[in-house]
Amino acid sequence: MKKVIIMMMTALLVVLAACGANAEAPTKKSEDGKKTIVMGTSADYPPFESVDTKTNEIVGFDIDVAKYITKELGYNLEIKDQKFGGLIAALNKESVDFVMAGMVKNEERAKQVDFSSVYFTSHQVVLVPKGSDIKTTADLKGKKVGVQIGSTQAALAEDLNKKAPMKVEQWDKVNEMVEAMAGNKLDAIITVDTVAYGYTKDSDRLAQFNVEDDSLETGDPMSIALPKGSKLTADFNKVLKEMEENGEMDKLVEKWIKSGGQ
Ligand code: ARG
Repeated sequence: MKKVIIMMMTALLVVLAACGANAEAPTKKSEDGKKTIVMGTSADYPPFESVDTKTNEIVGFDIDVAKYITKELGYNLEIKDQKFGGLIAALNKESVDFVMAGMVKNEERAKQVDFSSVYFTSHQVVLVPKGSDIKTTADLKGKKVGVQIGSTQAALAEDLNKKAPMKVEQWDKVNEMVEAMAGNKLDAIITVDTVAYGYTKDSDRLAQFNVEDDSLETGDPMSIALPKGSKLTADFNKVLKEMEENGEMDKLVEKWIKSGGQ
């Protein structure tokens, strides 16, 4: 009996030790001796992250910022694409080490994860087919409006819904909503200016207008999310500050956002 208890306790200790190691250390070591850290993202959000149709690679502003930071800190970077709505859970399950997905730092999320300093701010807009009769948020009344599951736009839609009741539809991926709108299955999509531009620049069939409502939160300040208590947060902030100071951040904004693409 005693032996069984000792064996069980040893097993428990091994499990605990494994968990402890995971919570602190990035996931793997690769051949070059560098550790690999895994970034979770949702590659439906150009110019922040999207799949390059020619190379099938995930590219974008967030990817370049993440590459710079991880290189500076001596890690290899692995990127995991998944649904935006599951990213916080993925961090908590430790299946990713950090999340960069145009994600806004807000109070609700900050209860579950830590955030880096803000690295870019977008503004919320409504994306509609060109020529649509929807020209203001009041016109959304009664319309089918798409938002991404778990996003700040889903929360904004709830607020707008109180003023102009609409049919809010929640989708996993922004690119799927854009396709649905092209097929007349959605009348409008709430997203951010930069992402709307990411889609309109490749299509002459889309238009956008700003969500202008002083009583609502229309700014979308983006940060990197890390597990609660992660030692990496301070390191990431250090490199973000360095990037602001040495002009690297401006260069990437110019590359991806101001000029609108590669
Ligand atoms: N900015 C919004 C939020 O933080 C949406 C971000 C969606 N990101 C994405 N990669 N699809 O909730």
